[in-house]
Amino acid sequence: MACHYRVAAPAAQVGQPEVKLGIIPGAAGTQRLPRLAGVAKALEMCAGGDPVKAPDALACGLIDHVIEGDLLADAIAFAREIVAKRERPPKSRERNDKLGDPQSNAAIFAAARAAAAKKARGLMAPLKAIEAVEAATRLPFDQGCQKEAGLFQECLFSDQSKALIHVFFGERAVAKIPDLPKDTPVAEIRQAAVVGAGTMGGGITMTYANAGIPVILREVSQEALDRGLATIRRNYDTSVQRGRFTQAFVDQRLALIRPTLSYEGFDTADIIVEAVFEGMELKKQVFAELDQAAKPDAILASNTSTLDIDQIASATSRPHRVIGHHFFSPANVMRLLEIVRGKATAPGVIATSLALARKLGKVGVVVGNCRGFAGNRMFGPYLREAQFLIEEGARVEDVDAALYQFGMAMGPMATSDLAGLDVGWRIRKEYRHLEPPGRRQPLVADRLCEMGRYGQKTGAGWYLYGSGRKPISDPEVDQIIEQCARDAGISRRSITTEEIVDRTIYALVNEGARLLEEGIALRAVDIDIIYLNGYGFPAYRGGPMWYADTVGLKKVYERICEFEQQHGECWAPAPLLKQLAEQGKTFAGFDSSRALFA
Ligand code: NAI
Repeated sequence: MACHYRVAAPAAQVGQPEVKLGIIPGAAGTQRLPRLAGVAKALEMCAGGDPVKAPDALACGLIDHVIEGDLLADAIAFAREIVAKRERPPKSRERNDKLGDPQSNAAIFAAARAAAAKKARGLMAPLKAIEAVEAATRLPFDQGCQKEAGLFQECLFSDQSKALIHVFFGERAVAKIPDLPKDTPVAEIRQAAVVGAGTMGGGITMTYANAGIPVILREVSQEALDRGLATIRRNYDTSVQRGRFTQAFVDQRLALIRPTLSYEGFDTADIIVEAVFEGMELKKQVFAELDQAAKPDAILASNTSTLDIDQIASATSRPHRVIGHHFFSPANVMRLLEIVRGKATAPGVIATSLALARKLGKVGVVVGNCRGFAGNRMFGPYLREAQFLIEEGARVEDVDAALYQFGMAMGPMATSDLAGLDVGWRIRKEYRHLEPPGRRQPLVADRLCEMGRYGQKTGAGWYLYGSGRKPISDPEVDQIIEQCARDAGISRRSITTEEIVDRTIYALVNEGARLLEEGIALRAVDIDIIYLNGYGFPAYRGGPMWYADTVGLKKVYERICEFEQQHGECWAPAPLLKQLAEQGKTFAGFDSSRALFA
């Protein structure tokens, strides 16, 4: 931007992506950009971080010429034209004509701040970037640059920037699997098939179609198939209405989806994803059928959220081709794909799954096989503590507000209402016999389910829902909570925001440490990436394990020991956490020591 002119090829993109790493554009970027592109565009680019395509950059004046032909030859020709004019070339630092006036700028800055507060809640860098651009409109160029440098430094040394840089490298690190040789062959996925057109099967089908991969969708009845397809169409229609996709794009995608009631065509699929109801017997039956229908080298993936992949694989004659592909709801939107490797899963199936995740626009994280895998296994203690806090005296709204304020996309109670309280109810009933006798269990969620309050889908759960999806506090729930606490002899007290955050987030951290010990998660960063992309954990805190490092593991460990004394064995600290805390180490350091031995 310090050059006199800028030219670009038609496909070029330009941008100021620094905010994505928690910093702001430096080297006078925030001072020159508004002079070239105008204040509104500069704000959008510096505070949002998204790139701008060449035609748009030309329109706003950021570049001077788009070269359709030979880039170098035409750039030289453009330079010669300029020279021939024999005019003094414009210096961008001296161009003040686009800087606006205080009155019109006030509204532009207010709108930018409001947009940042909404889209980048809790993030510091976008606000600092806005402040820097504002300096460009108020101060002479050199003073504006000094202001920018000060703001840049503030961001550079912030915890937020360190966390976002950790996330940036983390997304690349998770693709490295220590025992997977680099040259493991990756199969091309040209044809996919999905079994089950429910909530998840429909979303998974859209994910494949959106990536341009033809997909066969199987259901058991015409009615279920029609329902599934209608939902897919409705979702696409919404995307068109919101301007996310064009109608032509949607028509192409829909044409890639082939509905069926049989296994016809399944022998052509390179991958088959099962998304039928969650139940071991049904999954085994479906996998036995897939074993007959699929070609020998097809990948057979299950979208189960809790069930044992090895047991599912045992229903086939080829457990080495079986793997878990755990998508998150809505599957066509959420970026996470938890890739669950079974005992027998072949390296090629894992490598192909990772490459496929990228092609589908997802972040694939490979985890081991256990109940709930990495993400949901950690989410259990998190939800448990949220409910215990409510029984002990915190209000439903207070728990949600504390965690929303911490940066979570949604509080735990609102999340439970969205996912459906009946889902956890069913899982609790199925696994109750495995719980150690006498251990405290949350009481209220079951009571709500017994009353038919399943959350948003029934218009009532932890909250009431009117015509919209906005949660409304319900005094009846408060009464149920008080009653449950009285019956169980739990004394109620006032609970601080700090306790709410510590108990829920440290419950994630403690279980995360166990996953690391057991090798279910390969590294702490894998857990972080799972939580950022699947559970709405704020990126600027780097993920639960990175956050614990930031707090200091000694402090986290001591707090967990306190909780153990107050609340019993469910808070027993993970041995790895104890060890790292006592040695003054971090989870991130544990990751790098593991990489050394890999
Ligand atoms: P759903 O109840 O919406 O859909 C299941 C569909 O499977 C139904 O349409 C049913 O007709 C169909 N089906 C049953 N047996 C079949 C068969 N033999 N062949 C073809 N289709 C058959 O269930 P949902 O929520 O989509 O869950 C599916 C799987 O995804 C479960 O294993 C669940 O644990 C998992 N999952 C669910 C998530 C969620 O948020 N709902 C998130 C991640 C995983």
